[in-house]
Amino acid sequence: MKVGILTGGGDCPGLNAVIRAVVRKGERVHGDRFVGFLDGWRGVIEQRHVPLNIERLRGTLPRGGTIIGTSRANPFNLDGGFERCQTTLDELSIDAVVSIGGEGTMGITREMAAAGIPVVGVPKTIDNDIPATEVTFGFHTAVQIATEAIDRLHTTAESHDRVMVVEVMGRHAGHIALYAGIAGGAAQILIPEEPFDIDAVCAALTQRHQKGRFASIVVVAEGALPKPGTIELADPGVDEFGHIRLGGIANVLAPEIESRTGFETRVTILGHIQRGGTPSAYDRVLSTRFGIAAIDAVHEGAFGQMVAIRCDQVVRVPLEDVRGLKTVDPQLFHEVAEVFFS
Ligand code: F6P
Repeated sequence: MKVGILTGGGDCPGLNAVIRAVVRKGERVHGDRFVGFLDGWRGVIEQRHVPLNIERLRGTLPRGGTIIGTSRANPFNLDGGFERCQTTLDELSIDAVVSIGGEGTMGITREMAAAGIPVVGVPKTIDNDIPATEVTFGFHTAVQIATEAIDRLHTTAESHDRVMVVEVMGRHAGHIALYAGIAGGAAQILIPEEPFDIDAVCAALTQRHQKGRFASIVVVAEGALPKPGTIELADPGVDEFGHIRLGGIANVLAPEIESRTGFETRVTILGHIQRGGTPSAYDRVLSTRFGIAAIDAVHEGAFGQMVAIRCDQVVRVPLEDVRGLKTVDPQLFHEVAEVFFS
């Protein structure tokens, strides 16, 4: 078969490991040939592609980012975009496409499948917010990076008796904040799913410091919001794809904490550091398993499906069922908050 591969949305550690596994199994076992579309669906629209083979993928397993580039381009938002994709796939005699991406890319992949394109989805995102899979690759790496940063911030916070506000990624879901916050021993974790009460946050910090602990780490997800009517936030604006520009809630939060508690407060925004660099061992394994499962799905004609992991088994789920976002389990959040954040 001739198979096209693309990576869409924000990059994420483990993308190259998926591509490598798809190509390795496809070429070795099935004698497949591969084309990598450049910059996600944009490469399909614009007929930009490169040949991919086992040789080309040597050395890419530990490499972050994606060797075929990525974008958030959506053919369905462009006049004639779908038809252009169809023409590209016909002209290249592509038998199937493996589409690796997050929520937005899985939405496009679902529409492509519904329109008759033979496509299989592979979920990725550091945010871990794709439904129907227990975890996405990239998440584990991001949590590890954020945890290491928090560990480092503890010692400087303690030396100066400061509060450190650490902002991590997570637009609509607080998985990174929750995991890194628990792993890093944060005093407070603020996530998009639970609007925070600044009075309660400051009261908890004050109480903690009165008990003789003079340093606190507050982990806040970039999408966390204050309870309505408590703190004014500036209009964040939107990017070219209509997504709200996030990043910066920590800069609003820190002065509020400092003025309300009197504790000196500093901000660290981890930003794209969480997405860059080499994938963790766990993510390399998950990516490899997803890649193998994706090419298996192609050869079994399981189009319109996404590979996923459930109870440590790689399974297939219909893309039709992959809608909305997987948010933090409130029970997990409250179970930990009750013991550590009050
Ligand atoms: O979806 C992953 C993500 O890393 C989000 O957590 C973050 O808000 C967004 O991508 C950042 O996107 P960009 O790289 O376009 O700024």
